[in-house]
Amino acid sequence: MKRDVDDLPVAQRAYNVLRPPQPLWRRLLWPACGALLALLVSLGLWRSGHLVRQVTVEVERPPTALESLYAKVDDDRRLLGHFPYPLATPEELVELRPGLLLHRDAAEAFGRMRIAARRDGVGIYPLSGFRDLSLQEALFFDLMAERNQDPDERSRVSAPPGYSEHHSGYAVDIGDTDRPSLDLSESFEQSPAFGWLARNAARFHFYLSFPRGNKQGVTYEPWHWRFEGTSAALTAFATARETLREH
Ligand code: DAL
Ligand code: ZN
Repeated sequence: MKRDVDDLPVAQRAYNVLRPPQPLWRRLLWPACGALLALLVSLGLWRSGHLVRQVTVEVERPPTALESLYAKVDDDRRLLGHFPYPLATPEELVELRPGLLLHRDAAEAFGRMRIAARRDGVGIYPLSGFRDLSLQEALFFDLMAERNQDPDERSRVSAPPGYSEHHSGYAVDIGDTDRPSLDLSESFEQSPAFGWLARNAARFHFYLSFPRGNKQGVTYEPWHWRFEGTSAALTAFATARETLREH
């Protein structure tokens, strides 16, 4: 039986038959929203690394000269024959002459020793005192390169940074005021200043650190003296002193 449109309920009547066609933008709206959403989710995943396979390549860095050197530290904490020394603090240091610092206890004793030497007609002169790590590093590495030496050769005449008695503020390199040409050379032992020190320095608690044939393997340094006149100084050099006595 054919039913007339008027026979249909109003709600069903015009819905499919009479609905006007939707404009293009309405028909594309939902697909566009879906595509945008998918794009945003993909972007989020990409940025969080889920879609990117992250590959970390470990590039091995060659050790620095200092790291290679410290790899040679012995079980007894010695490095190429030298013992480690903590740095004197700024409060412990005083200026012996412009640019030259020494531990105040060593500086006071050095002052008295200098006066006593002068009374005997001998001039002693401080050439080098406290050294910080960067100065010792430059002395070790820069001169090593300049002289075309390897660390073993260099360590016979210079301590690696962190291992110099000069860090303690108790060590002083001494010259003869009247014979500057002998400064820091083995021939300093022929100077009146060295002769005087050899006879008198112990009265002021100064001792030669690196005599000929010392067990640390350091080249003879007649100019390098260390102060051991307080319990702190004595403790700082206890191991080095024992080594000097080794047979
Ligand atoms: N010349 C001595 C060994 C030093 O560098 O401390
Ligand atoms: Zn020295």
